[in-house]
Amino acid sequence: MKIAIAADHGGFPIKDELTQLLRSMGHDVQDLGAHQLEPTDDYPDYARYIGQAIQNEHADRGILLCGSGVGASVAANKMKGVRAGLCHDGYSAHQGVEHDDINVLCLGARIIGTALATELVKAFVTAKFTGEKRHARRLEKVQAIEAAS
Ligand code: RB5
Repeated sequence: MKIAIAADHGGFPIKDELTQLLRSMGHDVQDLGAHQLEPTDDYPDYARYIGQAIQNEHADRGILLCGSGVGASVAANKMKGVRAGLCHDGYSAHQGVEHDDINVLCLGARIIGTALATELVKAFVTAKFTGEKRHARRLEKVQAIEAAS
């Protein structure tokens, strides 16, 4: 799977470990920065990079990291075609894909450690949208909201 990952200064401390994890799982990972700790950088810039990677199909899924994961998810969900979920528990990390077809996982590196982040990333990337009728119907309604905005 093609996966893009990006982090502001709040998410930077766990980005490299997650990148290595994904590569060890055989994924094609694009690291969209920050490539070094930039203490004054802004999470919306990285949300844009991840969103653009999804929109132009350079990535199937994205991992977006900030301090809490909140700003990252707010910003990413402004981009058409992005369905970002802030998931700090294992159930949400896979159910968000299976039912809601999220394509971006947001994590807050100030909230969770690398061990939990690793489990969440594994759950997210191995999950598949079920395509069941009720989930497809709800997804279409979400897409209709986006189209009307
Ligand atoms: C950056 O200091 C921090 O505000 C940001 O990483 C994120 O937590 C915002 O939601």
